[in-house]
Amino acid sequence: MTDRDQPTVDAVIAARDEGLAALQAAPDLDALDAAKRTHMGKRSTLASLQRGLGTLDDAERREVGRALNEAREALAEVEARSRQALEAERDRVQLAAEAVDVTLPPRTPPRGALHPVLETIDALLDAFTGLGYTPVTGPEVESEWHNFEALNIPADHPARGLMDTIYVQGLGAEPDQVGITPMLLRTHTSPVQARVLRTQEPPVYIVVPGRVYRSDVADATHLPAFHQIEGLAVDRSLSFADLRGTLAAAVRSLLGPDVPIRLRPHHFQFTEPSCEVDAYYDGHWMELLGAGMVPPNVLSACGIDPDAWQGFAFGMGPERLAMMRHGVTDIRQFVDGDLRFLSAQTTVSP
Ligand code: PHE
Repeated sequence: MTDRDQPTVDAVIAARDEGLAALQAAPDLDALDAAKRTHMGKRSTLASLQRGLGTLDDAERREVGRALNEAREALAEVEARSRQALEAERDRVQLAAEAVDVTLPPRTPPRGALHPVLETIDALLDAFTGLGYTPVTGPEVESEWHNFEALNIPADHPARGLMDTIYVQGLGAEPDQVGITPMLLRTHTSPVQARVLRTQEPPVYIVVPGRVYRSDVADATHLPAFHQIEGLAVDRSLSFADLRGTLAAAVRSLLGPDVPIRLRPHHFQFTEPSCEVDAYYDGHWMELLGAGMVPPNVLSACGIDPDAWQGFAFGMGPERLAMMRHGVTDIRQFVDGDLRFLSAQTTVSP
């Protein structure tokens, strides 16, 4: 026991005052806890003075004992008051930090929308599935055979030059008579016609949405990667009149009930006769799609008896339709990813 711990009333009062000062000065609850441990705990000066009471005679012990009790009460009272004040302050700071200003206008999260080209593809698929067509897809990396040969476009034919084909490295293997063949990025969705005809028994009514590629330089009306929707119908007695009626119905459901269409003679290697279809929209005739009857040799190249079955096919570019429907004048806007353009587009319905 040190002199300081010699139990006297003066020692008790000194320890008490030291403790009171520390408890009152604590700037936060952690400091208050620390001060409480130091000045009121088992290892505090007051506790060791208490332990020394046994060395005193009765009169001294009573006197110093009373002083100890008073000191502990005073410390407990100040500690409780400090704690209350510090807790109130802590709560006030926390509430201020978490305050919600209910008068602020709500933040509206940015809302996504279908891309105008996808929206147009959806509308076209709706129109054709409504007529009984089933959506089908095919590979974007395609064999030269499906993209050209099966469609009446032999290797030396100038139509290949028109397509600006992008070939990929290496050869692909196709089943049965096709064998090993160069591979390319399909230049149109028409190879899916051949794929379906070679694997599916007629009657066939399919629509084929998909991306196609040509080594074009992008300008206001061309993209090197764009979309097509192909249609193919093969049945027992299909005529050019069925083709015309089908396309007229699709165009009406897409552009409006009163939109007239016209057919112009055209040439495709894989349809005969062939035509291009225009719609009268916004004051002028717009070219919409290519179409025609599937010739006998395309049917027989795919293992279908041309004496028993007839077919027609058509192909169109949803980008061009989307430009009409959304009043877009530069096709590149569809792929720029500019949110100002995309969010200005609203869903169109006739
Ligand atoms: N595949 C042709 C093109 O890309 C379009 C077409 C499809 C024409 C089907 C006739 C029949 O230009």
